[in-house]
Amino acid sequence: MKNLKSERELSLDFLRVCEAAAIESAKTMGQGDRKYSDHVAVEAMREVMDTVPMRGRIVIGEGERDEAPMLYIGEELGGKEFSEDARAGFPEIDIAVDPLEGTNLCAVGANNAIAVLAAAERGGLLNAPDIYMDKIVVGPSCRGAVDIDAPVKDNLKNIARRLGRDIDDLAVICLDRPRHKQLINDVRSAGARIRLISDGDLSAGISAAVAGTNIHALMGIGGAPEGVITAAAMKCLNGEIQAKLVYDPERLGVDKSKVPPVEEVMERLQSMGIKDPNKIYDTNDLAPGRRIIFAATGVTDGTLLRGVRFFGAGKRTHSVVMTTDPKSIRFIDTVHVEGGPDAVIRF
Ligand code: FBP
Repeated sequence: MKNLKSERELSLDFLRVCEAAAIESAKTMGQGDRKYSDHVAVEAMREVMDTVPMRGRIVIGEGERDEAPMLYIGEELGGKEFSEDARAGFPEIDIAVDPLEGTNLCAVGANNAIAVLAAAERGGLLNAPDIYMDKIVVGPSCRGAVDIDAPVKDNLKNIARRLGRDIDDLAVICLDRPRHKQLINDVRSAGARIRLISDGDLSAGISAAVAGTNIHALMGIGGAPEGVITAAAMKCLNGEIQAKLVYDPERLGVDKSKVPPVEEVMERLQSMGIKDPNKIYDTNDLAPGRRIIFAATGVTDGTLLRGVRFFGAGKRTHSVVMTTDPKSIRFIDTVHVEGGPDAVIRF
């Protein structure tokens, strides 16, 4: 990004983008239609994103160009209301979006659905394939104390030591999936407590890096795109993510027919410039950018963010906007007033 001024202003632009996606998807909360909830979030995010004064490029989005009508990988957007001359002076930004993280959560009105994105200077976010990724996420006090290849018990011992507590005082958050049977057994037999979630390992990872949430680590396999956006958040929060791509159906505990053939995945990785499919990624590999912006707005109530609230005279959203340069973390409560001059605003 060109200068600090544009980065600060952009972070508020990206806040508007997430707020719009959260509001539209929150209107569909509990309707039981996850695809529709996602669709309205994508449309809202795309529309507002185009008004942002930038030369933006989607690096993680809704899929390849032929799979997604908007927010597809490689789509260029931003600066719509500006002249060509003005656009030429706008910063070049790479963007990773997840317009509705936790589509099922929104569809059933469960906690922790969010609208989220990360942005950085060109090349500042890994162009990750839409496959699975094994992850371990911890907060600042535990940076350097975990190793994704180490036994679960060793990682938990190290986390406990860094946090000055016993293993049985730790809580690990993990997606409730058959593929995590062994992981769950390992956490239990090490003596730690566990919080199993139905969806949403991105917001869970962020909670693991914030003190006071009563979550001390995220472990297990979720989406790789979510891993990159989590890494962007870790850069802002001083937390750590370690990750590995997972493409082996056996590891995923699924039938071969349920995932693309390994040869196909390898070809795709190669075409994306990923030479070593077994590489261990750290925070900087996933989000190498020096100037990162992370924005998220709650759709449903969650650990860190409240969901969208609707009242007669408008809507209220709760968001977090974080930047690495300058390092700032803002929790933003926005009242979107629609009720005219007599609208009553509550504290
Ligand atoms: P969606 O928002 O796309 O529904 O993803 C939700 C999610 O739970 C992610 O948080 C997680 O990374 C991924 O799905 C796990 O995938 P799966 O449900 O296939 O185990």
